[in-house]
Amino acid sequence: MPTNRYSIGAMTLHWAIAIAVIWDWRLADAAEHAPRGQHFAVLQPHFALGMVILVLTAIRLIWRWTHKAPPLGTHLANWERFLAQAVHYIFYALLLGLPLMAWIGTSMMRQPIDFFGLFTIPNLPTPDARGPGHELTDLHGTLGNIMLWLIVLHVLGALKHQFWDKDGDLYRMLPFGTPRSG
Ligand code: HEM
Ligand code: HEM
Repeated sequence: MPTNRYSIGAMTLHWAIAIAVIWDWRLADAAEHAPRGQHFAVLQPHFALGMVILVLTAIRLIWRWTHKAPPLGTHLANWERFLAQAVHYIFYALLLGLPLMAWIGTSMMRQPIDFFGLFTIPNLPTPDARGPGHELTDLHGTLGNIMLWLIVLHVLGALKHQFWDKDGDLYRMLPFGTPRSG
């Protein structure tokens, strides 16, 4: 496996997290139109999948610390390097921060998380504070929507490299094709 490509573990986690995030956004969006009072019940699969993303991201970060990411190609302009890396760091912060702040918020509201009907994820030991808990989950929704725009930027970047620059950078995250070396 050439060194300018991510490891199979990193690729598997990248694509699993990408699919889970898009799916989880669709689940949250579908719940937007639920009748008042049923909002949290309809959001339960969004909570559960969000907790799966939290665990996958923790594994992804441990993997990243133990398996060095391939260095970015020398053909990239400085602004491309900066933008790509900034978006990646913000992604990791949101992938950990979004579920954690929502878990704290739902705990403050004493709202349990049903894990796909299998078991209940307990509340964190937070104060019982409905109002601030609601504000925290609202902020979570806003940051979640901001993340969607960053995903658009990230995908546009990947497509620009694939079809405009034709540098094969997309293959760094895929087990086939030839990424440009160096
Ligand atoms: C939908 C949610 C997505 C998230 C949260 C996400 C997140 C990330 C993160 C954090 C990295 C940095 C990896 C590292 O160095 O540790 C990365 C790299 C990458 N992603 Fe995504 N990604 C998503 C979707 C996609 C999609 C749809 C594509 C392709 C169209 C894509 C293509 C890539 C590529 C090619 C890289 C490697 C960049 C490089 O180092 O050259 N990603 N992604
Ligand atoms: C990385 C994982 C997660 C992502 C990407 C994410 C994303 C989102 C997005 C985009 C929305 C807004 C939907 C819209 O405005 O149409 C939202 C809403 C919401 N999410 Fe998440 N979420 C995640 C994890 C979680 C978890 C683990 C919980 C619960 C513990 C949770 C609880 C909520 C709640 C309560 C709302 C509704 C907020 C409101 O009333 O405005 N989310 N989420």
